[in-house]
Amino acid sequence: MILLNGTELAKKRFLKLKTKAEACANKAKLVGILIGDEPSSHIYVGKKKQACQKLGVLCDILYLDKATDQKKVLQIIEKLNQDSSVTGILLQLPMPKHLDSLKLINSISSKKDVEGLTSQNMGLLVQKSNSIAPCTAKAICNILNDYDIKIKGSHVVVIGRSLIVGLPTSILLQQQDASVSLCHSYTKNLKTIVQQADIVIVSVGKKYFLDKTYFKKNAVVLDVGISRENDKLYGDVCPDGLENILSAYSPVPGGVGPMTIQTLIENLIFLQQSL
Ligand SMILES: NC(=O)c1ccc[n+]([C@@H]2O[C@H](COP(=O)([O-])OP(=O)(O)OC[C@H]3O[C@@H](n4cnc5c(N)ncnc54)[C@H](OP(=O)(O)O)[C@@H]3O)[C@@H](O)[C@H]2O)c1
Repeated sequence: MILLNGTELAKKRFLKLKTKAEACANKAKLVGILIGDEPSSHIYVGKKKQACQKLGVLCDILYLDKATDQKKVLQIIEKLNQDSSVTGILLQLPMPKHLDSLKLINSISSKKDVEGLTSQNMGLLVQKSNSIAPCTAKAICNILNDYDIKIKGSHVVVIGRSLIVGLPTSILLQQQDASVSLCHSYTKNLKTIVQQADIVIVSVGKKYFLDKTYFKKNAVVLDVGISRENDKLYGDVCPDGLENILSAYSPVPGGVGPMTIQTLIENLIFLQQSL
């Protein structure tokens, strides 16, 4: 079984990105908005800032109180939309329940939508005419392509249909000529469907949701889900015994996560170069 090592791959892609990033240094600026005190979100935002700093890309994080109301967040986004020194705006998800996250996402200018989540950029993605795609979905495709895993004609099962992972991943992979089954909590006979897959992408967020009995021989599995227990991270897939069944596997941690951060910076540089 090949271990799909997202940490190593992200390092290689960062090296390739360096020249482009240098050309944008002190020009490209990411502004992240983090609302509330969810510990995982603080860790993810910190990692994104670190990645920017390594490449000399500017990054500001706005930490907002968890009680901040919708109107206030909209005002902040509007100000950032108008600020010519800001290249990309990132709204860290999930956000407190009283906020309408979709409305907030859609208030970001599509030209500053570094995560490719606005209705404008999602629409263009469906039409296959956009270079900005949601970071995790693009990261998943980059892992498959960089490891030369055959997508064309493959049966891909994506579990989870979120706007940030499952849905855009299913779109990107069918655009690369895969036959995609998009599964969710109402899917019947999930195990039977997963057992037919050449490639499985799982983004549910439940520790060890799948185990080795779900996979056919030589399947490729990319684990996206992250669960935290006593400061330890667990994926959606139990790793026990996978090595005798799968042909390739991306673990948690060290798989899709680092590649997602790399893709975010790639998107930011793309936005800067598109100005
Ligand atoms: N590695 C990374 O870079 C990265 C990036 C983003 C997210 N994540 C992690 O990925 C996980 C999922 O996040 P997300 O934002 O994609 O999804 P999400 O919004 O948390 O939704 C979870 C998805 O799982 C589906 N689901 C729940 N129970 C299921 C079941 N029993 N059978 C089949 N499907 C089921 C849900 O179906 P319904 O739609 O029917 O409710 C939903 O589509 C989280 O742990 C998150 O931390 C990791």
